[in-house]
Amino acid sequence: MLSFLQGTTLSLLRLAILFALLWLIFRNVLSTGELIAMQFISVAIFAPLQEIGNIILAWREAEASLLNFAALMEKPIERRPDDPVDIGAVTHVRFAGVRFRHKNASDDALQDVSFAAGLGETIAFVGPSGSGKSTLVRLLVGLYSPAGGAVLYNDISTRELRFNLARRQIGLVTQETHLFAGTLRENIRFAKPDATDAEITAAMEQASCAYLLAKSGDGLDTLIGEMGMKLSGGERQRLSIARALIRKPPLLIFDEATSALDSLTEEQITNTVRTLSAHGQRITILIAHRLSTVMHADTISVLEKGRIVESGRHDAPLEQKGLYYAMWRQQIGERPPAAVAAFA
Ligand SMILES: Nc1ncnc2c1ncn2[C@@H]1O[C@H](COP(=O)(O)OP(=O)(O)O)[C@@H](O)[C@H]1O
Ligand SMILES: [Mg+2]
Repeated sequence: MLSFLQGTTLSLLRLAILFALLWLIFRNVLSTGELIAMQFISVAIFAPLQEIGNIILAWREAEASLLNFAALMEKPIERRPDDPVDIGAVTHVRFAGVRFRHKNASDDALQDVSFAAGLGETIAFVGPSGSGKSTLVRLLVGLYSPAGGAVLYNDISTRELRFNLARRQIGLVTQETHLFAGTLRENIRFAKPDATDAEITAAMEQASCAYLLAKSGDGLDTLIGEMGMKLSGGERQRLSIARALIRKPPLLIFDEATSALDSLTEEQITNTVRTLSAHGQRITILIAHRLSTVMHADTISVLEKGRIVESGRHDAPLEQKGLYYAMWRQQIGERPPAAVAAFA
């Protein structure tokens, strides 16, 4: 609309001027040479006039972005404790009776959740979707603060510590992957700006995505995103896993990070994570739908409607013949003993 109006107005104006000049020639006021000179001058005037439309467009675009930016800057700042405790290296994390409810939700997303994990331990959470697993992770990394109970790092409540220092020790892979338009190197270095190429390649190997380097011939300089190489959902997930691993974080959290992968790659990555956690220098928290991914964990907690209903090593919740048993049986494709007997 803008360019139509602008184009039409300018053309009409130009024609009107031309006709006015021709009329002046007809009346012997102007000579032909003067008319041509006037035409040259008018070009110099019309060119900038044509630019005005572009300026308005650019202004509109910038305005939209600036409004977003202003809305972001309006958000309240994360409250920092007045006298923060320095926790040093994270060695254990604990939930003590945590309760949480989302804004404008009618039910508690988590009720009375307690668990603990120390260095060298792997703990897993399973449960149907909507049972509160991602909420639990967000509470753990401090994106939400608990309504009741406490989240403790090294037995210090997160209300008393400076979260940024703790967050630098966390490697979190979420359900949604966020990659940026740029090179592979830039995307992975995002988590560790001083990482060397060798470190990046090693992390990509651990996340089973080193083959991407060979795919385009540009290696780490391969552009990804709209202008560059297109990646599948699984490949994006693997890259975000590589990004989490490069930090060698003491606390590694996978929130359904391998759910978009085929079962073979998932197993490969799970094995890598297992070897990484085996050295006792890491707390690993796994959330996965495929139970084979989490069955090796030291503690498996089954969440149902925001409560931990069963927990223990693989065998314990299995023997309770509850939700875990049902999920396990369904995934392994085993018939209940009664049905097998009837079938035989
Ligand atoms: N931002 C939100 N606002 C309101 N309710 C939410 C929000 N995020 C999640 N919920 C609700 O909290 C519950 C737990 O969600 P979530 O932790 O994402 O489940 P899971 O990861 O186990 O699938 C769900 O019932 C969901 O509808
Ligand atoms: Mg989730």
